[in-house]
Amino acid sequence: MEKFYITTPLYYVNAEPHLGHAYTNIAADTIARYMRRILGVHNVWFLTGTDEHGQKIERAARELNLIPQEFVDKMVLKFKELWEKLNISYDDFIRTTEPRHVKFVEKVLEILFKKGDIYLSDYQGWYCIPCETFWTESNSDNLCPDCKRPLERIKEKNYFFRLSKYQDWLLDYIEKHPDFIKPPSRYGEVLSFLNLNRLNDLCISRPKDRLSWGIPIPFSKEHVTYVWFDALMNYISAVGYFDDNERYISKWWPAEIQLIGKDILRQHAIYWPIILNALGIQSPKTIFAHGWWMVGESKMSKSKGNIVSPFEVISQYSVDALRYFLLREVSFGMDGIFSEEAILRRYNSDLANDLGNLVYRVVNMIEKYFGLQIPQEIDMKNLDDLTNKLLIKMEDLVKKEPFYLQLPAVNFNDALENIWDLINTANKYIEDKKPWILSRENRIVELRNFVATLVKVLNKIAELISPFMPQTSNSILEQIGKNSLKKGLPLFPRIDPKY
Ligand code: MSP
Repeated sequence: MEKFYITTPLYYVNAEPHLGHAYTNIAADTIARYMRRILGVHNVWFLTGTDEHGQKIERAARELNLIPQEFVDKMVLKFKELWEKLNISYDDFIRTTEPRHVKFVEKVLEILFKKGDIYLSDYQGWYCIPCETFWTESNSDNLCPDCKRPLERIKEKNYFFRLSKYQDWLLDYIEKHPDFIKPPSRYGEVLSFLNLNRLNDLCISRPKDRLSWGIPIPFSKEHVTYVWFDALMNYISAVGYFDDNERYISKWWPAEIQLIGKDILRQHAIYWPIILNALGIQSPKTIFAHGWWMVGESKMSKSKGNIVSPFEVISQYSVDALRYFLLREVSFGMDGIFSEEAILRRYNSDLANDLGNLVYRVVNMIEKYFGLQIPQEIDMKNLDDLTNKLLIKMEDLVKKEPFYLQLPAVNFNDALENIWDLINTANKYIEDKKPWILSRENRIVELRNFVATLVKVLNKIAELISPFMPQTSNSILEQIGKNSLKKGLPLFPRIDPKY
């Protein structure tokens, strides 16, 4: 693969990041690391950032008596701080208030306006302020179909983008590109939506007297750009430009994969490819919509007041425990329920007991039987059955390894399950070989072979887990990756339940 471009949604900065935001960035980071380290792709570009315009943010700023720019400048630091803590290896961070983005959006609007794909018309409808979403029709209860909060009635002049003109093109495109929307359940959802409904044109402006915190519409003094139209552009504004003939030039586009949560599927699987097509730009190869982290029965979200702070989970369990838990607990694409019990269970069993224990035992055996010198050579001619079995298991996994995420299907939990199978086989190997007997009976050659085998397997495990748990991987390699042992602290000390 020559290049690999991966993106995450741009998160709204109206509140501090929560576990749901962390989830998408951890997933994207794991894929980016996997591409760089496991598949050896040199040109990987990982983009994340923040969505900083719109009513929601203007209101949040006003509540704190700040001007929006001051507010977003402050909030963006929280996101950057979290990404640093979580070891998110992004290559670029885009903010929608940056001049590079603003200029690009203005250019796009001009191109589409000139082309006749944007026009002025009357807008009447219902608007959900917290969701920043228009609904052309409302049910009798006048509540937002998404969040169930009251809608506001609106009538005004606005600019519209001709979404409807491209519906047939999109249907055809999706039918011909089975990998465009993942997982398959979401693909089916979008396809049947398009088959059953006619798209309305998309209102892409807001009158300035109602909302001023947005990108000015270049051909109207009275309007700013609708926040979703603005934000979607980031994926290309960050990596390209238009030349004099208004041709889009980019080293990175189209993205190989764009991760989103299923809450923003409509914008990414319908609006986004259509806008790109209108601009004569290719669609991304894959839009992957993952599931939600729930608390009990409801989606974790600021508006529901049930958010879990990733900062707190990290301080209690460690960064890698959080990364591991989120990617291991549910299959990517499905919803998961977050609870203290669930993460504690994973922590104590998979991390403390399985992986932590394996590292601890191997390090201690090296120290006890060989001092600081790590045995490296395995005598391949004299392998007993147990050793053979373990090495074959490792080789099998390594053969699968280049494809263990099997993109564009993203099977984090399968990959981890396979790696844990190797970890558990290695633990069992120690129990079965009974090194204390080998030592007591002075069977030094056998003991050396045994420890060298474990060292080899553990080095491989460290490599395989590196996209998921970079810190843990480094720590294992620091301890046993060279010729001499460098004993560290236990990786995952057991944590007693509070209840
Ligand atoms: N700003 C828009 C996206 C614009 S992209 C051009 C937005 N922002 S958001 O802050 O609400 O973040 C939404 C994304 O955060 C979701 O699509 C998902 O990736 C992640 N999550 C937010 N809550 C989540 C859960 N409870 N569970 C899993 N992921 C969640 O929408």
